[in-house]
This record gives sequence, C-alpha cells and structure tokens, in this order.
Amino acid sequence: MSQIHNKAIFDSLGEDYETHSNVNYYQKIGNGIINFLYNFLNIKSEEMDINILDLCCGTGILTKQLSDTFKNARFLGVDISQIMLKEAQAKEIDRADFIQIDGRDLGTLNYQADLITCNYGIQWLNEDAFIGISKILKSKGYFICSIPGYTLQNVKVSKESVTFTGNKLFKAIIKISNKNCHYQEAKVPEKVMNVWNDTLGEKEIINAALQNNMELVHQEILIFQIDYKNAEDMIQSILSRGTFGDILSEKSDEFIYALTKYMTRMSEKYNNCTEENVTKYLIFKND
Ligand SMILES: C[S@@+](CC[C@H](N)C(=O)[O-])C[C@H]1O[C@@H](n2cnc3c(N)ncnc32)[C@H](O)[C@@H]1O
Repeated sequence: MSQIHNKAIFDSLGEDYETHSNVNYYQKIGNGIINFLYNFLNIKSEEMDINILDLCCGTGILTKQLSDTFKNARFLGVDISQIMLKEAQAKEIDRADFIQIDGRDLGTLNYQADLITCNYGIQWLNEDAFIGISKILKSKGYFICSIPGYTLQNVKVSKESVTFTGNKLFKAIIKISNKNCHYQEAKVPEKVMNVWNDTLGEKEIINAALQNNMELVHQEILIFQIDYKNAEDMIQSILSRGTFGDILSEKSDEFIYALTKYMTRMSEKYNNCTEENVTKYLIFKND
C-alpha cells in the first residue's frame, strides 16, 4: 500500500469523517478493546503510571474512550494524517499528546509503552511496522488491535445479516455504477477492491508479529449491529470510512442521490437500516 495514497485517503476525509454515526461505529468497536483490557488483561482503571500508545489514533475516538476509562494513564496518539490529528487535538483529551508520524517509523520514537492499542489502523501499515511496535513496547507489554472483517480469511457472518440493508451497500454501488457508466464512480468497486487487496490481512499481521518475537495470546471475533436513522445517514457513515475515503471526495451529487433512493427502497423492503460489522481482535505479548 502506498503510504502517500494512504495518507491522502484520510486527509481527504478531514471533517467528513466524524459523522455522528461514524463515531458511534468506531466507539462500538473501541468498546471491544476496552473490555479486553479490563476483563482479559486485567488492567485496572486506577492503574498508575502506565504509558499507552494509541497507534493510528485518527480523530482520537479510541484515545478518548481509553482516557475516560484509565483515569491515571498517559496517552500518546500517533497518526500519519495531520488533518485527522487536528480533530483529535480539538477533543482536549485528558493526559493525551498527539504526534504526526508514519506508523512504520515508530521505532524512531524515544518512547517506551506499557501497552499499544490500534483500532482499525494496523491494516493500513505494513509488516515492517512490527519492528517499531516491538521496539517501543516494553518487555511483557501488550499490543492489542482490531481489524475489519474484510481483512479476515473465511469470515462467517450471521444468517440474518443478509437482510441488513447496510450490508447491501457495496452491491448497490456496483449496480448503480454499472447502470450509469458516465459517472466517475463507475470505477468505485474496482477502487475499493484495490484498497482492500492492498491492506494487511489477518495472517500477515500475525506472522509479522511472531517474526518480531511477539506472542499471540488471544484472538476473538465480535459481531456488531449498527442502526442508522435512515439510508442517507447510513450512506454518509459508510462512505466516510477509510476504504471509501477518497472516493467520497470525488462523488457526484447525482450518484449519491441515486444511491440514497436505491438504499431507501431497500430499507423499506427489509424494514431496517442496519449494518453488520465483523471485527477481529488480536492480542500480542512482547518478548
Ligand atoms: C479507521 S482510522 C482509525 C480510527 C481510530 N483508531 C479511532 O479509534 O477512531 C485509520 C487511521 O489510520 C491512519 N493511518 C493510515 N496509514 C498510516 C500510517 N502509515 N501511519 C500512521 N497512521 C496511519 C489514518 O490516517 C487514519 O487516521
């Protein structure tokens, strides 16, 4: 994955990224991380003197959840996009600093973390990032990350999910693109597939961690349902995530109008405006 393209995706999202529903979406996934820290790793909320690095912190949604939970910990949020970081800084999160750095260069930081978190970010990096992760993570420290369903091999979705309107968005984009090939968005499915193919998959992540002397101590899949107010809200949220990011910036109003009309019909047909999200959590322990 070209890191320049990667940065451009999130730079182009800028203020569009934090639609209300999108915050809700990342918070749901972030809650999974908090629960594992609490219940699996047994990190207590009053834990003193721990340094938590939030890798690919974006607009700081997880950093804020962590700061609200671990009241005495200190946080360093890092991200490649200054535009995303600006939103994170504006949140004025207690005990948190933010710096712009390419996640693959973590090893250049003069920093030692007790814990590294990464919510929906690690797939954007590459295997070399694990050299830095393992270097700045203290011995016996943990790295916990969440990865989206599309990076998982043989992902299983629940039966009911076929009737969730949100899960039909990708097909709808293809359908509308094919029907109206004069739209610039005619290339959207291909572009999304290219982005997905370029991101790190689950096996690559696990192998890269193992090669850097980190042990996989836990893995678990959680499935969430996200309800939206209406089709417009759902489309705005899904299209403002990374994979669709710079595609959204070149959308035509006409295309979004056609998509909204189609998805509104779908939500009436299925009587819901729900999306299913499949997330895998991986927890590694440093040597
Ligand atoms: C889905 S967002 C992360 C969401 C965030 N963790 C949260 O909880 O809200 C992915 C983030 O990865 C960042 N990113 C992509 N490539 C990166 C890189 N090479 N180094 C650091 N950050 C990167 C993007 O700028 C973006 O902010």
